[in-house]
Amino acid sequence: MEEKRDNSEDWDFRGANTNEFTHCMHTYPAMMIPQIARKLILLYGPNAKTLLDPFCGSGTSLVEASLTDNIKEAHGFDLNPLAVLISKVKTTSIDQSILERAFDKLMTSRPNADPPTFKNIEFWFKPKVIQELAILKTAINNIKNKDVRDFFLVCFSEAVRDVSNTRNSEFKLYRIAKDKLEGYNPEVRLKFEKIVRNNIKGMEDYTDSRKNTNVSQKYFSSMDRLPLSKGSIDIIVTSPPYGDSRTTVAYGQFSRLASEWLDYENIRNLDSQLLGGRPSKGLNVGLKSPTLKEIIEKIAKHDEKRAKEVLSFYEDFDKCVKQLDNVLSKEGYVCFVVGNRTVKGINIPTDIIMVEMFKAHGDYEHIVTHLREIPNKRMPKQNSPSNKKGQKITTMNNEFIFILRKK
Ligand SMILES: C[S@@+](CC[C@H](N)C(=O)[O-])C[C@H]1O[C@@H](n2cnc3c(N)ncnc32)[C@H](O)[C@@H]1O
Repeated sequence: MEEKRDNSEDWDFRGANTNEFTHCMHTYPAMMIPQIARKLILLYGPNAKTLLDPFCGSGTSLVEASLTDNIKEAHGFDLNPLAVLISKVKTTSIDQSILERAFDKLMTSRPNADPPTFKNIEFWFKPKVIQELAILKTAINNIKNKDVRDFFLVCFSEAVRDVSNTRNSEFKLYRIAKDKLEGYNPEVRLKFEKIVRNNIKGMEDYTDSRKNTNVSQKYFSSMDRLPLSKGSIDIIVTSPPYGDSRTTVAYGQFSRLASEWLDYENIRNLDSQLLGGRPSKGLNVGLKSPTLKEIIEKIAKHDEKRAKEVLSFYEDFDKCVKQLDNVLSKEGYVCFVVGNRTVKGINIPTDIIMVEMFKAHGDYEHIVTHLREIPNKRMPKQNSPSNKKGQKITTMNNEFIFILRKK
């Protein structure tokens, strides 16, 4: 397997513009670089008619699929309702003049608005900010056309994060320090306006270049039986989570405040529903990956609880592999962008483990694993693998893009 890791090609895309088209619309943790999805589709799916992203997040690969001539259908699934909304808006063309007109109307209306009452709202937002956000939200909800309304809700969601009392450089929820908070008075309408202007421009470029691809995205767990026909997918392009949300990327925490403003329910439980959200009961590695077995045994020697947490992620992932194998066509390609994390000082070669897991489910040829350095991906490069405060080590500087072909 090691010998198929290849770094002869440039997959870094250092300095590339990652904000083209609708990719500029909303921040999301661990976003895929659009150029990676583009290159993967070009290399491994030049004749593909159908694409699937089972962990579509903010929809990077779906946007790219809809910019190709050949892909006629692109499907995305995610368990984060905010991600599904962002991804829908980023792949739904709307005429610039329609957006401009709706925007003018929006900015001149100041409807009466009752602020939401979710827990700790006053901890995360200043009173004036709450008032202004509530007015904006009510005005947006008065827009009749659903696609236009959703477009502005995504702008609103991005603004919520910007004007909250959170430290915006972090994906986890941390409040601005008390001494800084006093002089912090974000201009809600100005911030919102700036985001809308930027997003209308992105949408204009996207609408000009979008091809005739049907894109659908669903709030759905890829561990469950996928609502797609057997053998119907020609190429899978995705970046799955790197591990459980609690100790890697907290998608739920990142999305929580915007989601509460958008009235999404159960957002506080989201992280526990994602892959690896609940620790395994035992340490019996029933999955057919010898590498995983070895790694879990090593971690368990240091810390059984951590070993169970790590194992649960791969147990959940195994359920996804079964589903993906079912919907992938013969000769279809699997393209996964993954990171290898370190737990208890032990590096986990997720790229190798996942290749072994696919091979255990079906007849797959491992074509290659491309190596790339992470120059600009928005990822926590450090975490606390021992879960002890202050103990931080670098988790990921490289990404691995593994390619499999179903025989
Ligand atoms: C690395 S992110 C994907 C980012 C995406 N490529 C982008 O560019 O925005 C992984 C995604 O997997 C989703 N996820 C985790 N467990 C899932 C599951 N069981 N089913 C569907 N999606 C899941 C998370 O909500 C998250 O959005």
